[in-house]
Amino acid sequence: MNLNEFKKKAAWAALDYISTGTVIGVGTGSTVAYFIEALSTIKHLISGVVSSSNSSTILLKKQGINNILNLNTFNSLEVYVDSADEINNNMQMIKGGGAALTKEKIIAAIAKKFICIIDQTKKVNILGSFPLPVEIIPIASSFISNEIIKLGGQPKVRKNVITDNGNIILDVHNLHIYDPISIEKRISLLPGVVTVGLFALRGADIILMGTKNSVKIIEK
Ligand code: A5P
Repeated sequence: MNLNEFKKKAAWAALDYISTGTVIGVGTGSTVAYFIEALSTIKHLISGVVSSSNSSTILLKKQGINNILNLNTFNSLEVYVDSADEINNNMQMIKGGGAALTKEKIIAAIAKKFICIIDQTKKVNILGSFPLPVEIIPIASSFISNEIIKLGGQPKVRKNVITDNGNIILDVHNLHIYDPISIEKRISLLPGVVTVGLFALRGADIILMGTKNSVKIIEK
């Protein structure tokens, strides 16, 4: 099973959802890196992009996509293309493996359509095998960790990672997320939490899943 091939297929399939003259939200990660390659082939047709991370901005520029726009100039975006670490049957996701969850969540919130590009290993029944990333203000680390332990998870500070926003990431292990909306709300409300990497309140609209023989399209 060549996962990179599956990611690439899904990423290229996302071009079908891009209309001429629009601004595209661009996520972060290895699957999105393929999408950025694909997007470069139609860069003359789009009005610009909004980037979810410094790492994606670097890749976009490398591909000659230089019209990178400030998120504050938009109230809505037609399409946001990003991947996920896990996605369930209700299109709810764990994201943040690449530490870009905060900007990703903001872009998802203003996007009319969230297109999630994945390889088939990302599709799960219950979220939580992938440790749930939570971006937090550093001084709140011990308080938030204790609160998360009460929820049944085992938080670990991600080593050697400072986010684009100057914060740290807690990766929460062994949390079986049976009710993603409730967990998203509970963790979001803890003082010191910037963003929890559960995208349940605003999930994906379309999944493009690369498999051996095809790209499977799953719609809400
Ligand atoms: C980035 O912060 C994440 O939300 C990514 O979307 C997620 O980690 C998937 O990344 P890969 O495409 O590298 O698996």
